[in-house]
Order: sequence, then structure tokens, then C-alpha cells
Amino acid sequence: MREANGDVFKDPDTGFSFSQQNVQITTGSSYITMRIAIPSGSAAGQPYDAVLQIVAPVAAGWVGLAWGGSMTNNPLLIGWLNGASGVASIRRASSHTAPVADSSATVQVLPKGTKSNGTHWQITAKCTGCTSFTTTGTTKKSLNPAGTNRLAFAYSKTKPSQPASGTSPITVHDLFQYWDHDFAAAANADFAGLVQRNL
Ligand code: HEM
Repeated sequence: MREANGDVFKDPDTGFSFSQQNVQITTGSSYITMRIAIPSGSAAGQPYDAVLQIVAPVAAGWVGLAWGGSMTNNPLLIGWLNGASGVASIRRASSHTAPVADSSATVQVLPKGTKSNGTHWQITAKCTGCTSFTTTGTTKKSLNPAGTNRLAFAYSKTKPSQPASGTSPITVHDLFQYWDHDFAAAANADFAGLVQRNL
């Protein structure tokens, strides 16, 4: 079942409480779901880790989240399925051309939140550096842990050409979209413990 936008999804697999958004990708009933969990008590203006869970139809080759709400000058967390496991990668772009691998944020796939079936794949990954980052020059942007943040997503039907590699080339998206994601509903007590449980 698909919960409504802004609802909290209590994930029985991972134990995280996610604030979620469903992004419609066809005129039918095909959606990509973006779920975010953060530590409770995260302070405004300070970096904090975030866990992203992506649920995508099997037709999606890669799915990415732009933490700053646009393609350029912010961390892009891209994920895809490789056999039974998930691959996640941080990229960055300063123009509307293929983003390059970027080490200003780090991502770790949480295997217990990663799975697929005949219709969908799901990956869950922790990012350090996705909620506080430089945009251009020395300008910093920090996502508000107690309110909404403008995010963007993109996805491509084409799988990365070297699916086992986090630095695989990717092809341009078939669709992108924006929304305001509710981070206030994403707080998790014992966030660090939940991360450990899902390694
Ligand atoms: C090979 C990889 C990619 C290429 C060649 C590419 C290229 C482009 C181009 C040409 C546009 C402008 C389209 C228009 O104005 O209609 C665009 C827009 C956009 N792209 Fe990408 N892109 C790539 C990867 C990504 C990734 C990985 C993300 C996010 C995770 C992303 C997010 C966006 C968004 C949100 C827009 C809307 C404009 C903006 O917010 O800047 N793109 N892209």
C-alpha cells in the first residue's frame, strides 16, 4: 500500500520512521517513493546524517535525489539496483551536464533496507554531508530539520552502464520534479542504533 505524501511511514523492515513523498512518473499509477529519516534533535544550521529510502518501479534504471532542490551545485544522491544489492553514489554538477562523482558527501547502502521483487526495487542508504553543503563558492546551505525543504528528483529508465560500480556513467533523466519535503516528520530517536541494525 502507498501512504499519502507527508505521511510517516514506519518501515517494518528497517525500523526507521520515514517522512515520505510519492512522485508520479507516468500518467497511470506509477510512482517513485522518496523516504527520509533523520536523527531526532538535529539542530538547524548544523550538519546531520540522513537516511534516504527510494522505492522505484523495476522500469527505473537509476533514481537520484538533489538535496538542494535543483540539479546544480548540491549533492546528488543516485541509487540503482545491481542484482540483489543496491548501489549508491554521490555526484555533483555545476551545469546541466553529466554530474561527476563527488567526495564532499559520503553514502553507505544499508543492506537490510535494500530489496526487490517483480515490480519494484528499494534501496536504503545513509548520507553524511547531504543536509549541509556548499552551493557556489563558499555559500553554505543547511536543510531545516524542523520544517520543509525544497528537494528535487530525477530518474532514468536506462540502467547505469557499469551497474556494479558507484562511479558508473549514467545517461540523462527521463523526468525530474520538485516538492517540499517535511523533515519535521522524519525524526528518529536512536537513529545511530537503527543505522547499525541495518548494516
Ligand atoms: C548524465 C546525467 C545528466 C544529464 C546529462 C543532465 C542534463 C540535464 C539538462 C540538459 C537539464 C535541463 C533540462 C531542461 O531545462 O528541460 C537538466 C535538468 C535537471 N536535472 Fe539533470 N542531468 C543529468 C543528471 C541529473 C541528476 C543525477 C539529477 C538529480 C539527482 C538531475 C536533476 C535535474 C533537475 C532537478 C533538473 C531541473 C533543472 C534544475 O533544477 O537544475 N540531473 N538536466
